[in-house]
Amino acid sequence: MTYKSLTAALDHYRQNEWRADIVISTGDLVQDDSAGAYRHFCELLGELALPVYCVPGNHDVRAVMQEVLAQNQINYCKSIEHGNWLIAGIDSCVDGKAGGHIAATELDRLDSEIYGSGMQHVMVCLHHPPVQMNSKWLDSVGLANADEFLARVSAPGNVKLALFGHVHQPCETEHDGITILGTPSTCRQFTPGSDAFAVDDNPPAYRRVNLYADGRFEHKLIWVNDEPVF
Ligand SMILES: [Fe+2]
Repeated sequence: MTYKSLTAALDHYRQNEWRADIVISTGDLVQDDSAGAYRHFCELLGELALPVYCVPGNHDVRAVMQEVLAQNQINYCKSIEHGNWLIAGIDSCVDGKAGGHIAATELDRLDSEIYGSGMQHVMVCLHHPPVQMNSKWLDSVGLANADEFLARVSAPGNVKLALFGHVHQPCETEHDGITILGTPSTCRQFTPGSDAFAVDDNPPAYRRVNLYADGRFEHKLIWVNDEPVF
């Protein structure tokens, strides 16, 4: 199902005029822990002929993910400088746990990349939500040190955007001038505001983000509903 719905999302991108310079995947690339599943992901994304940047999610197996991505020239937790923006990918996962926690070493790496970059503006990408989702079960597997993360990204004054995955539903909020965006899955979506695990009938989705050299940005959530995929 995930293969089919990801294909539908990529087809939607190809069939429309908006064009990307890079692709960012905010984790949970596969469900079954297999190298074969990561190869499928690489095959599908490879068809776009664009640079792809990934961070791990709680369903990913870091070692397998890193190995297969490296074999396919796909970037893992790597930061890039692009058009006056630093785009930083960080690891928010904890082995064996659904919930996230960003290690001190990872927060320090983020700091050094932000302060060491010549880019004026910063977008940070991670898997777990740094904000509450007002969903009892999802908030029980959120980012344990969200406050610490938000304090770190607020301090430099040039972090404009934080993108996350994990929650399979849209989220658009703000913290201290930083726009925080959660993007639904390229597969099934979770019911917003639900106390317990529940999926809804929303289609796969992806988000278009335009970053401009003067620090402006635009974003648009795209539901892939041109054709039934489930
Ligand atoms: Fe997740």
